[in-house]
Amino acid sequence: MKYPPIISKFPHFLHGGDYNPDQWLKHPKAIDEDFRLMDLSGCNTFSLGIFAWTSYEPEEGKFNFDWLDMIMDRLAKKGYNAILATPSGARPAWMAMKYPEVLRVSRSGLRETYNNRHNHCWTSPVYREKVNIINTKLAERYKYHPALGAWHVSNEYNGECLCDLCLKSWYEWLRKKYKTIDNLNECWWTYFWSHNYTAWEQIDPRDGCVDGLRLDWARFITWQCCDFMKHEIVPLKKLTPAAKVTANMMGFFNGLDYWRVAEVCDFIADDSYPSWYKPDDNSDTGSFQGMAHDMHRSMKGGKPFVLMESCPSATNWQPYHRLKRPGVHKREMLQAIAHGADATMYFQYRKGMGSCEKFHGAVIDHVGHEKTRVFKEVSEIGKIHRKLDAVIGTSTKSEVAIVNDWESNWALDYSAGPTNASKKYIENCHSMYRTFWKSGVSVDVIESTCSFDKYRLLVLPMLFMLKKGFAERIDKFVSDGGTVIATYLTGIVDDHDRCFTGGWPGCGLRKVFGLWNEEIDGITPDDKQQVVAVKGNELNLKGKFEVYDYCERIHLEGAKVLAVYGNDFYSGEPAITVNRHGKGKVYYMAARTEDDFLMKLSSAVMEDLKIRKILQKTLPDGVTAQMRTDGKREFVFVLNFKSKKQTVDLGKEKFKDMLTGETVKHSLKLEADGSAVLERIF
Ligand code: GAL
Repeated sequence: MKYPPIISKFPHFLHGGDYNPDQWLKHPKAIDEDFRLMDLSGCNTFSLGIFAWTSYEPEEGKFNFDWLDMIMDRLAKKGYNAILATPSGARPAWMAMKYPEVLRVSRSGLRETYNNRHNHCWTSPVYREKVNIINTKLAERYKYHPALGAWHVSNEYNGECLCDLCLKSWYEWLRKKYKTIDNLNECWWTYFWSHNYTAWEQIDPRDGCVDGLRLDWARFITWQCCDFMKHEIVPLKKLTPAAKVTANMMGFFNGLDYWRVAEVCDFIADDSYPSWYKPDDNSDTGSFQGMAHDMHRSMKGGKPFVLMESCPSATNWQPYHRLKRPGVHKREMLQAIAHGADATMYFQYRKGMGSCEKFHGAVIDHVGHEKTRVFKEVSEIGKIHRKLDAVIGTSTKSEVAIVNDWESNWALDYSAGPTNASKKYIENCHSMYRTFWKSGVSVDVIESTCSFDKYRLLVLPMLFMLKKGFAERIDKFVSDGGTVIATYLTGIVDDHDRCFTGGWPGCGLRKVFGLWNEEIDGITPDDKQQVVAVKGNELNLKGKFEVYDYCERIHLEGAKVLAVYGNDFYSGEPAITVNRHGKGKVYYMAARTEDDFLMKLSSAVMEDLKIRKILQKTLPDGVTAQMRTDGKREFVFVLNFKSKKQTVDLGKEKFKDMLTGETVKHSLKLEADGSAVLERIF
């Protein structure tokens, strides 16, 4: 099956990016050049007006959309698209001066001055009214415009405000959620350090000792952001019901639960700035990127997403301004497509002359013409896109899913302990993810409330918090024949961040996992611990492997041992287990092991389950294969993250190289940092 194109009338890859002609209005020749260079660069889609509020409304109530009319008309003439932004990411200075309530109040209790961007109060009725007016004007003006492709609401929502209006809204949110203060006290375990509240107004979000409070504040911020976004899109939906809406995300940004933001979006857009810093091998960055893309695809059940921002060369805000080496840009763009993007866009189309982004990479550099390396690489992507139209709307088919849950991460983060030096939740999800990425196996990255129906193998790395109903769903998944790999720190707290009583993993999982986790040893770098595979274990694991940070002391309650601890007072006790439950199995890793063990374990489980690999033969280190399919045709992306040539064994299969048109069999040769797109020949 195929999903419809992101912009329904445009069944091609979207290519282009943030375009700020509002910065260049005094330089009309530059704008003429922009349009000439669009064709040459193969760019066809532009995010317009993201920070253009002052140019639309230089004085309160006085509007001027002349420049946008001109740009939209010129885009339409070329058959190109605008992803039109609402400008709420940065407001005019006049507004901040006249209505200080639009400015945020920081944790110190002080109101911010006018500065920077992304710092407006989401509750302020004045701000909401001003946003509604400008959004309505934009929607009214461009509702029938042929260039209007989609809406880009605000920009990278983030941050918090502690003004009186926000606090009032917080109390209201709590009241709605908990109904009575007594109930809140119980859920938050506030009988601690004399915190049992007697009025909502006593609840200061800055109080760091009540874990449930901190968790709820993070939830409240997400709710507030979504509420603000819903407010922003009311006029857009009313006036332009056919145009889809999105808000650009920032990967695994910790400040918002993006699964909730995703619910407000019609399609997912992500901004992504990987650091390809290693001279020889960037596979770590590559697999992390892959995990982020897989999550963005999974957020809408597999629907293609938009890579809304990426850098065509180097950013100016990361520690190093390391230029993309030959092949790296192409690989980065093909990687996004491989994991489900139907658009590869940039920040930014033309590099500004001044202010704090003047050194940020762009399609058109200060020199102003097309004869640059970066421009040529971007044009090459335009050409590649045209060869890949058949990929548009296709998705992946994953038998494996990794659960990555924002709220669980927050709960773990906000808990003092069980050990603090090295929680590393996202990193640990990544270590597990990487084992599949290296094997060329498609993975969905889901949250714990998603359906498990399509999967055969579920990976639960450090799922510290169990949301209501989760344990029952896991029980059913395993009973019905599913397989789970769970790690240490799974099932410790409930959704108020209160520890389960009656033994971990809580909420009935003890029975499903066949074990009791009695205590957690948070070992230091000076401790030496290992897991040692036991003879004749059912996965045929062999050897000894290093262990870091976490060792749980578990007792078997039906599970069988695969490996034991090698050292210390719990030497010989179970460390890695498997439990049969109904028709399925649960593997449990009580310790954080070196990557080599993760690879061995996950390979053995994949082998046992006969999980489908995209290419049959073992991939060289640093190479991954990812696949998109419409259910019939299969498009295989092979990406080399090492800066040396590599050869991929294709076994007996035959493919067509979609970029060169040639037939490929036996083996595929990849350049250093090289990439290829193959269609499988059946
Ligand atoms: C993004 C932001 C863009 C631009 C870019 C620079 O986070 O949305 O406006 O600042 O970073 O890399």
